[in-house]
Amino acid sequence: MNTDAYEIIDHTYDVVVLGAGGAGLRATFGMALKGLRTACISKVFPTRSHTVAAQGGISAALANMSEDDWRWHFYDTVKGADWLGDQDAIEYMCREAIPAVLELEHYGVPFSRTEKGEIYQRPFGGMTTQYGEGPPAQRTAAAADRTGHAILHTLYQQSLKHDAEFFIEYMGLDLIMDDDGVCRGIMAWNLDDGTMHRFRANQVVIATGGYGRAYFSCTGAHTQTGDGSAMVLRAGLPLEDMEFIQFHPTGIYGAGCLITEGVRGEGGYLTNSEGERFMERFAPSAKDLASRDVVSRAMTMEIRDGRGVGANGDHIHLHIEHLDADIINQRLPGISETARIFAGVDVTKEAIPVIPTVHYNMGGIPTTYQGEMVKPGASSPEQVQPGLMAIGEAACVSVHGANRLGSNSLLDLVVFGRAAGDRAAELVTPGQKQPELPANAGEEALARFDARRFSKGSTPTSELRAEMQATMQAHCAVFRTGELMQEGRDRLTSLWSKNDDIKVSDTSLIWNSDLAETLEYDNLLAQSVVSLDSAINRKESRGGHAREDFPDRDDENWMKHTYVWLNEDGTSRIDYRPVHTETMTDDVKAVPPKARVY
Ligand code: FUM
Repeated sequence: MNTDAYEIIDHTYDVVVLGAGGAGLRATFGMALKGLRTACISKVFPTRSHTVAAQGGISAALANMSEDDWRWHFYDTVKGADWLGDQDAIEYMCREAIPAVLELEHYGVPFSRTEKGEIYQRPFGGMTTQYGEGPPAQRTAAAADRTGHAILHTLYQQSLKHDAEFFIEYMGLDLIMDDDGVCRGIMAWNLDDGTMHRFRANQVVIATGGYGRAYFSCTGAHTQTGDGSAMVLRAGLPLEDMEFIQFHPTGIYGAGCLITEGVRGEGGYLTNSEGERFMERFAPSAKDLASRDVVSRAMTMEIRDGRGVGANGDHIHLHIEHLDADIINQRLPGISETARIFAGVDVTKEAIPVIPTVHYNMGGIPTTYQGEMVKPGASSPEQVQPGLMAIGEAACVSVHGANRLGSNSLLDLVVFGRAAGDRAAELVTPGQKQPELPANAGEEALARFDARRFSKGSTPTSELRAEMQATMQAHCAVFRTGELMQEGRDRLTSLWSKNDDIKVSDTSLIWNSDLAETLEYDNLLAQSVVSLDSAINRKESRGGHAREDFPDRDDENWMKHTYVWLNEDGTSRIDYRPVHTETMTDDVKAVPPKARVY
């Protein structure tokens, strides 16, 4: 390959953030606010990042609607995570939730209001009071059902106000690592004019979100291809807990679009073909507001047992027809529109056809609660991978463990985005001198890019991607068995062997979606492989990982995080790290493992 064929433009920043969703923007302006010269690189315009689609809200024990306490939020999150979450990090997140949400309010997020003028909060799944003994908590702060939209726009405005610099419609390619294993920067491709950019920085912060598009049907945007996490794998570093993939109970049947859990928070409920509110059988106390893994499994069992609705009996009904139309218009306008467009349903009159749909990745880049990547094999969480940070869905802190509670994601974005900004300001002084990059820095990334650009095989990327998505959908689903997953793994192995047979027809450098989608496919396939390998390896059921051949949680052998490395030949290597079972302070008591019932 002739790298001279590419025009390379060099940049030096104190910090570079890859990704402009909620976490990326919160970190970006936090760093800029501290005087760091900060660049934010995004393959889409910032306000088109997937956070814009978050609906139901952001959790925080503000107690605006009912009695609440951040310790109850902590308890619910530990339980929701099925005891795989790190309790020190969970304590930090739930405590910081309150100032983080009030800060958003002061930045200008247009939250819905109570009669008293306070932030409106709704119930969400798994959120309770009195350490699970009291009634459901009204803890999820909402801007109607467009909370992500409201937050994302506000964070972008704050970033512009604080003079962060944006590189918009630039696609990250690969990390620049030096011979000592330190991350020194990142390569990116300007989709609009075809130029190549080499960013040098003291810290690179990955905020590229999840990889829901590894599946055929998911609630995420088409851009959700986990690009930064795949870069980490290619740099020879591990990802954590990749077997834990969340299915949201209510994606629209067929289209996959999200219908917020806030619908059930406002009084909506699910029924089977017999008109039965079956969640009463599966979760007698929380019912439709049990945690997502529980509800998704219950729906799947109803369908399997022949009680699904529709001509093929393959989905479930979600009802809000009984709610006051004014309430629907005021609190759920977004899903009313989505249901009309994508399901042809008037929610004031008819049930919405729904099915569990891939929604969130609990796993990702292992980090400390301050956003630094944990050094692989480190004996203490203070040992970190120099130069590399991660936040948001791309990261695994781990606060969500084996299953995330609804509305803890927007919270994770802002709490850990802010923490990463503060930590970067401790690690880097503005204008700090940086070592020169080796003359060939970024060459490997360009070679990979060039090889893909001129891939002259026989199979278009779209065909391979469809096969990968169908494989993940069928073989790494709500319920799993070793045999089913191994069949899926064999299909992925066969796909991997076709890596040299990809056909990219368009060789141009400007708005080449054929090439961009091929690079995204590489990223998705890498994450699919390590997800299935991690899932096959974990021989128990916990949270979002429900194995029919190992139906019980096994704390003795499996209360540990998975670390997975991807080898160049498409195989992987697995190791573990212990779960942090202690809290950060004495302000709250650690919750010992027990049976998880709702
Ligand atoms: O249902 C929802 O509104 C999704 C929220 C979340 O995933 O946190």
